[in-house]
Amino acid sequence: MRNKLNITKTDRRLKKRVEVLRKSPAVAHVVSKKRLGEEMISRVDELPALPTVVSKIMALIEDNNSNAQNLEQYLKQDQALAARLLRIVNSSFFGLPNRISSISQAIVIIGYNSLKNLVLAASTSKLLEGVFPGYGFKEGGLWQHAFMAATWASKLSSRFEIDTEEADELFIAGLLHDVGKLVLSSYITINCKEMMTNLITCNGNIEEAEKALVGISHSEIGSRIAQKWNFSDKLAHIIKYHHNASCAVDYQKETALIELVNYCLVSKRYGMFENIPIDVGLSQTCLKQLKLTSEKILELTEEIEESAEGWETI
Ligand SMILES: [Fe+2]
Ligand SMILES: [Fe+2]
Repeated sequence: MRNKLNITKTDRRLKKRVEVLRKSPAVAHVVSKKRLGEEMISRVDELPALPTVVSKIMALIEDNNSNAQNLEQYLKQDQALAARLLRIVNSSFFGLPNRISSISQAIVIIGYNSLKNLVLAASTSKLLEGVFPGYGFKEGGLWQHAFMAATWASKLSSRFEIDTEEADELFIAGLLHDVGKLVLSSYITINCKEMMTNLITCNGNIEEAEKALVGISHSEIGSRIAQKWNFSDKLAHIIKYHHNASCAVDYQKETALIELVNYCLVSKRYGMFENIPIDVGLSQTCLKQLKLTSEKILELTEEIEESAEGWETI
């Protein structure tokens, strides 16, 4: 049973067990971290299948023969999803001059290609909503972070000379790059104080802080979730290395783009508490693959900032 903070009773018990272990000699601490990591991996297996609505929308997006009528037909059967979609479309983030009140109107105004991605985003919003204080997110912050990452990753793909056909895939990668946090969040929230201390000790490196607390990172867990949900190997790979494209063997440029977008969003703390001691950097591979200079990074951050007005209403 989860509450607003996504804390489970299992994790309260787990925290107590770890505290008992830590009173033992130093070696027990290391063992406990390893065991915790294994426990978190086993939770991926216990996760329910990808919500049907999300997988159906993903299949629709991947199907080259699908069209606006198929999408409209599907949304007519799912009123809750249609309502969430209209809420996103009518948010001030999009700044549309007139309110859109029906799906058919949204297809005409926004266009099928952009709208199908928004439907996917709407279908994952339930999954990513909630408060994740252990990660420094305010209520709804993780969802906003994911949505902005998705939007910018697909928008920037052509600017960094990534095949236009990959734009949709990058939208999905941006949307789900932090999905691993869903599994770790409960335990990290209970141990919020220790997580903050770890972040400071690890110079703001979130993956290192997670590993020190729970023996595994959200990127690793996220890539396992992607495999469990039968996403492509490419998507699982990008999720796994989204904090350090230098470790990616394949798809370095795509991974670098997600790393860059995440960097820009976290730097500006969108959806996050200002004082969270997280400090993201950019890997050498990211800088090289995307031919980035400090001016270019600054320009991009400013561009995101200018268009970010209204994102809180999504
Ligand atoms: Fe991340
Ligand atoms: Fe992120």
